[in-house]
Amino acid sequence: MSHDALRLARIAERAAARAGAFLLTARAPEAAQWTTKGHHDFVTEVDRTAERLIADDLVSAEPGSRILGEEFSPVGVDLAGLVWVVDPLDGTANYLHGYPWWSVSIAASIDGNLVAGTVFNVPAHQHHTAWLGGGAWSGGVRLSVSAVRDASRALLGTGFPFKALDHLPRYLEILHAVIPLTSGVRRAGSAALDLAGVAQGHFDAFWEMQLAPWDIAAGIVLIREAGGIVTDLNGAPAEIRQTGLVAGNLWMHEWMMEQLHEKR
Ligand code: IPD
Ligand code: CA
Ligand code: CA
Repeated sequence: MSHDALRLARIAERAAARAGAFLLTARAPEAAQWTTKGHHDFVTEVDRTAERLIADDLVSAEPGSRILGEEFSPVGVDLAGLVWVVDPLDGTANYLHGYPWWSVSIAASIDGNLVAGTVFNVPAHQHHTAWLGGGAWSGGVRLSVSAVRDASRALLGTGFPFKALDHLPRYLEILHAVIPLTSGVRRAGSAALDLAGVAQGHFDAFWEMQLAPWDIAAGIVLIREAGGIVTDLNGAPAEIRQTGLVAGNLWMHEWMMEQLHEKR
């Protein structure tokens, strides 16, 4: 399995590299050409072209495999066999505004089990890649979650509920509670990079109230292979579905869960 998973990780990495090169050279479209899929949810021809490139690469490397991708196949893909979970551009708002923090995220799932994942931080030229049993890596550096146990020393990553606004009141209560207890909270705008940040040990914990399968699939593999914990908001192991997410090292994940379930 480890060998197959490694091969799938390398296929994903190459596809992410090609899409990243395209995204870097493509000009971010003018605001008039952004279309909305939902509240505050912009999409452009650039996202779609990147997903087409990725899908071509993945399916030609693994004929018979299928794509669960944000732009063309977001619903109705069953998870039997080899399925690639693809976000061709995570951090679209950053990309469109020229804020250099966005990524390409690709994971491989076999019968619903995540076996490999890669998150490519394109502006920083950094690939973060993990495969089942093989560890998580950024280039030649093996990743490991942080060892911070004390919330007052912890740096947290998060995402605001700017699309599903019904989560906002509860989210703000949690934010209000954790800001005074920790050494900082960051919202950078790419959930895939936030999760890679947990695997790298930059963030000690992360939470977001609602994310899509393509935002989280590769990051889940990275965090698990870096020794971290990643669950839904109730503490069940994270899966490929629309879900809230809590991640961190063992201690900070537990602490974050306590904050989420505290009665206020
Ligand atoms: C978004 C980013 C953001 C998160 C949103 C996602 P997109 O993905 O990951 O950090 O807060 O929930 O939808 O739309 O840029 O691919
Ligand atoms: Ca995304
Ligand atoms: Ca996207």
